[in-house]
Amino acid sequence: MPVYVITGTNRGIGLEFVRQLVQDHTNIVVASVRSHTSDVGDLRSVIEGLKNPNAIILDCDISSTNSINRFVVTLAKQKVLANQKVGFLIHNAALNLKPEMNSLNLEPDLVHQIITTNVLRPSLLTSALLTAKLLSSDVRIFHTSSGLGSMVVSLDHKPRQRAGYSVSKAGLNMLAVHQAGDIKAHLPNAVVVLVDPGWVKTGMENMLKILHGLEEANNGEYFQHSGRKVAW
Ligand SMILES: NC(=O)c1ccc[n+]([C@@H]2O[C@H](COP(=O)([O-])OP(=O)(O)OC[C@H]3O[C@@H](n4cnc5c(N)ncnc54)[C@H](OP(=O)(O)O)[C@@H]3O)[C@@H](O)[C@H]2O)c1
Repeated sequence: MPVYVITGTNRGIGLEFVRQLVQDHTNIVVASVRSHTSDVGDLRSVIEGLKNPNAIILDCDISSTNSINRFVVTLAKQKVLANQKVGFLIHNAALNLKPEMNSLNLEPDLVHQIITTNVLRPSLLTSALLTAKLLSSDVRIFHTSSGLGSMVVSLDHKPRQRAGYSVSKAGLNMLAVHQAGDIKAHLPNAVVVLVDPGWVKTGMENMLKILHGLEEANNGEYFQHSGRKVAW
């Protein structure tokens, strides 16, 4: 039974991933959220509505090192993971603070927060799962990037804003390229990719198609939700 771990699933694209994946009851779906004490009503409704016995909600605040480490420890103890490893790791959660920032009025504290949440902590989550030996040897690691992480797309992007977010997604792209190489020393059949989901939540089936169709030759690639490659 394939095991999926997804971050940031209480709303938006993360919730849509869960909605699609829990429909297949052979999927084990670990839906992580910033905190189960925050608004997870929609997520609970989806999981309860589709009655997937193998879907669980766990806390993982990706801005917090402690929360990530607690998540990994809790995950390792889950019955649904007995004799199973994570086959699909979907890094979805992200921050986009003060979108009106451009490159000439960046607020360093905010940008630091965005980069921590969008780049450094997803990196830590992968490393912590790897160290805990929870990733399968052919794990597919899916980083949710953005067109705004592309130099080519950003050059002509209008209006001229979202610079902090854009810098973070470009950083995420570079992280994934490094991860695609580095992970091979530990998990030779792993594949790490980046996907730009586009602006609306319509490309979900396609994104899952990309995820399920990944081959080793795709390691380190950057896709649009349509399956086209994004120019770096
Ligand atoms: N939608 C688009 O048009 C678009 C376009 C390009 C790229 N993307 C990327 O696609 C992904 C999902 O986007 P979206 O539109 O679904 O975003 P969204 O509606 O803003 O949802 C963001 C999700 O991330 C979670 N999150 C934020 N900080 C977190 C933290 N510290 N710990 C755990 N969860 C946290 C949020 O949880 P809370 O509710 O607790 O804040 C929420 O579940 C992101 O990586 C985004 O950059 C989206």
